[in-house]
Amino acid sequence: MTIKKIGILTGGGDCPGLNSVIYGIMLKAYDAGIECVGILKGWKGLIENLTIPLNIAEHDDLHTIGGTILYTSRTNPFKGAESKEEVAKDLVNKLDELEIDALIAIGGDDTLSVAEAMCKYAKANVIGCPKTIDNDLAGTHYTFGFWSAVQLASNAMDNLTTTAKSHQRVFVVEIMGRDAGFLTMYSGISAGADIILVPETPFSLEKDVIDVLKKRVNAGYKYHIIATSEGAYPNSESLKKDFKTISKETIDKLPKDTYGNPLLAKLNISKILVDELNLREDLKKEFQNNGVDFECRSVVLGHTMRAGTPNSFDRILGLRFGLAAMNLVLEGKFGNMVSLLGNKIETIPLSEGVKKKYITSDSDKMELRDLLVKIRYLSKQK
Ligand code: F6P
Repeated sequence: MTIKKIGILTGGGDCPGLNSVIYGIMLKAYDAGIECVGILKGWKGLIENLTIPLNIAEHDDLHTIGGTILYTSRTNPFKGAESKEEVAKDLVNKLDELEIDALIAIGGDDTLSVAEAMCKYAKANVIGCPKTIDNDLAGTHYTFGFWSAVQLASNAMDNLTTTAKSHQRVFVVEIMGRDAGFLTMYSGISAGADIILVPETPFSLEKDVIDVLKKRVNAGYKYHIIATSEGAYPNSESLKKDFKTISKETIDKLPKDTYGNPLLAKLNISKILVDELNLREDLKKEFQNNGVDFECRSVVLGHTMRAGTPNSFDRILGLRFGLAAMNLVLEGKFGNMVSLLGNKIETIPLSEGVKKKYITSDSDKMELRDLLVKIRYLSKQK
């Protein structure tokens, strides 16, 4: 089949580097004489025929700009549907109506699961491109957007140390990433956070937070930065024993998004931690014994982590992904997605790419985190 026109859509949360991918696709498409059409607001735009022409002459250096010119949404076409197959076929019919010969879907596991179903049930001409600041997609070593978000969170924690130092405070910094801890682990290590809590290792309030704070203050530290994932949660023993303000029910009852993911940010774990720490008289006493008034504040980095321009790594990865995705279209290798393995752009089946990944217990990042937290106070113990 000759490809004359391709559609591009961006779905899920926005992410630095989306425009870089779009530009990479457009560069190659222009060179190959193929027309590009933007489908607006993710899958919503395909359902509702919301499109714009993409003329490369109007978008010089698009790869340097944050966000997505195609807008985005978390529309899930399968929500409430009885047959996935029918929905997938309807989506392919929509592409036919728009005379789009192939589609490049740029998104995370949710957006790409729709792309995968279109290929599985309707043999659609679809290529996927992995996006998310969370870096939680199994098929690729890095998603674009991740390193920009790590840098933003790391900078925020670097900056917070001056105010933490001036007031001799404890700051609990809440970092995005849903149920995966990559953003918190990498930015926490990068900024030298004093305690790093990630979902992959459910924490004990007593052992991993309060004891460490006591040891640190006894070793002479007067301010402390705690980096916590929005999805970090206590282990069940600690939840029962140490927590006064929440219970298992609080976590179980969280609302969900259209794809069924619990909205972890609604828990506001950083505020919960501040509330719990403020209830601990023993902790306050330990601080006072060391001449420090115990003061604790929470900071939610939230959407600032997806804001602004992509860093150079993400600009280049985005362009490389876009170029590779367009090459797959030209080769007719549909049902696949592009991925970064080592420093090479590879092709993997969408069915593999949509699987989630988490930090594993044998990761050197786990060991680094534990050493970073422990050795600083141990080495200064009187
Ligand atoms: O998946 C990316 C992400 O930024 C998560 O880290 C976060 O939990 C979620 O999106 C926030 O989504 P929204 O922009 O819909 O609030």
